[in-house]
This record gives sequence, structure tokens and C-alpha cells, in this order.
Amino acid sequence: MSSIDQALADLRAAFPARFAAAETEQALRDENAKILGKKGELTAILKEMGKLPNEERRATGEKVNLLKAEVEKGFEARLAELAKGKRDADLAAPPFDLTLPGRLALPRGHKHPISRVREDVVAIFRQMGFAVHDGPEIELETNNFERLGFPPDHPATDMQDSFWTEDFGGGRTLLRTHTSNIQARAMMGQKPPFAFIAPGAVFRRDDDVTHSPMFHQLEAFVVDRGVSMAHLRGVLSEFAVRLYGPDTPVRLRPSYFPFVEPGAEVDIGCAFCKRPDGTRAGCNVCKHTGWIEILGCGMIHPVVFEQCGIDPEEFTGFALGMGLERVAMLRYDVDDIRLFTENDPRFLEQF
Ligand code: PHE
Repeated sequence: MSSIDQALADLRAAFPARFAAAETEQALRDENAKILGKKGELTAILKEMGKLPNEERRATGEKVNLLKAEVEKGFEARLAELAKGKRDADLAAPPFDLTLPGRLALPRGHKHPISRVREDVVAIFRQMGFAVHDGPEIELETNNFERLGFPPDHPATDMQDSFWTEDFGGGRTLLRTHTSNIQARAMMGQKPPFAFIAPGAVFRRDDDVTHSPMFHQLEAFVVDRGVSMAHLRGVLSEFAVRLYGPDTPVRLRPSYFPFVEPGAEVDIGCAFCKRPDGTRAGCNVCKHTGWIEILGCGMIHPVVFEQCGIDPEEFTGFALGMGLERVAMLRYDVDDIRLFTENDPRFLEQF
């Protein structure tokens, strides 16, 4: 037997055991490279073939190729065996428990400042006996404007202020510009007495440091026999005290809203420059007046009652509407309303 034949026979006898001894894919690949790689044993034998006489070369070449094919087959078989073994071990192992708590302590979030303010304001009105109503954000023009005494050509209905939506066939619709739409909705559906609030998102074509195209309001609405401005004043005073602490003064300034008469804007004593004796020094927040405007209000206009099917001779009532962003900006000393909707953790983390 030639020395090449001997080498081939030795390799054939040895490689199955060498592959079988490889316990990992990497070990198997290394072993395979030792045989078939550029500097591998079989490759070395192949190089020896050049020295053979011509007549022997062909027969030996065939043997080499045969052995190469065998080694390749053996390699693939062992590779599949290792993969199967790994999979069987995975399946037999105790299952991975998805319910285990993570090892990384993830930071915990908290409520958005607007949600906090809304919850606080809602809680105050609930304690005073108000129910909580909801209303749609896409509203009919009649409920947002007409029934509330806005004439069709009123500037507030102008494209400047409103986002008109596609026409759904039942009358013109828009994104409500205030929560006062719930007044019309309540009165069209039920009879007094009413005492409820309605918080929610409202939309106007406005965008600067104190105005956002989407913001939140909270409307309060009371209708019954014998409701007077004194009740409105009482609710406002109680609200101011509960939100900003004892001895918070309230002041009404005459103002105009189409759906109330008389109408007023409400100021509360500035909480930022309040002295221990209750007087106000004046500061930047209140523009050195000692007063901060927080809402609009008034007695429901008789025309609104009539348009909503309620007898203004029998019933009277009041409404008030406040901007929740405004309350939050004052409470947390935020000077740009847009920060509330930018979702920047550096801002939100501060609450
Ligand atoms: N809806 C009014 C606004 O958005 C506020 C308001 C509500 C005024 C209720 C009076 C009564 O400006």
C-alpha cells in the first residue's frame, strides 16, 4: 500500500470519532477545518498526489474525492445532531417564566399635570354636589354656537377660530370650541334641575405661548327654580378656597358671552405674591395687579333657554367655564402652554 493510501485509510478510520467527540458547533467546525481546510489533512494528501506516477494518480484522486464527500456528509450529520440536541435540551428545560419581574428597575411614570388639575377640580365640584357629564368633541354647529346665542355671522364662528369638519349630513359640524356645547345638549335632552360639570378637550385655531389649538376646559352648569347670581358667587368663592386655600378672594368683572346675561370674568387673588397677612404684593404672574383671571361665567340667557325648550319664566341658572391649562400654568408656574403637549420627559418629570 502506498503511503497516500495509508494516510487516506487512517483518516477515514479516524474522522467519525473525531466528529463525534466535538460537543459544540464551534468545536465541530474546528475539527472539520483541520481535515478539509486550506491547511487540512486531506488537503495535504491532495498535494502529495502530484508526486505519484500518472497511472496511479487517477485512482487515488477518486479515493480522495470519495473520502472528501464522506467527511462532508459526516460533518453535516453531526451538525444536525448537535442542533437537535440543543433544541431537545431547550424543550426539556424548565419553561421560561414570562411573569417573573424584570431585573432592571424601570422608571415609573405618573399622571400628566393636566390630568392632575382636572381631577382636583372635578373632585371639588363633586364635593359640592355636581354630577359629571361628558360631551362629544365633534359637535353640531347648533350646539356649539346657535343654541348658545351666537348669530350665524358672529366673529367667533369665523374660520379664524374654528376647525370645521367634513359634513356628515346632519348639519354643519366642527371641533367644539368650548365645553359650553354640553349646556345645549343637556337642555335638549332633559328637564331641570341640573347641576353638573363637564370637563373635556376643546379646539381653536390659536397657537402661541398661552394658546394651544387643543386645550381643556371644564364647564359647570346649574339650572333650577330660583337660581340667582348669589348662588354663582357662592360656588365661585367656595371653589377658589378649595383650590387655592382659605382667604382666596374672588372678584367678578362684567364681560360679554353671547349665552349669558349678565356675564362676567372671574379673578382670584394671586396666590404667588400673597403675604402672610393676606394682602398681595403684586408680581409678574398677576402683572402687579394682585388678581389672576381664571374663568368666564354668567346667568343663562333667556334666549338660550327658549331655544332649548325651557321656560325662562320658570327656570334660571348659571354657567361657568375655565381653562384647565390656565389653572395648571398658574399652579405649576409654567410659562408656555405648548410644553404640556410636547411629551418631553425633562418637563413632565418635574411634576
Ligand atoms: N365658553 C366660554 C369660553 O370658552 C366660557 C364661559 C362658559 C363663559 C360659561 C360663560 C359661561 O370662552
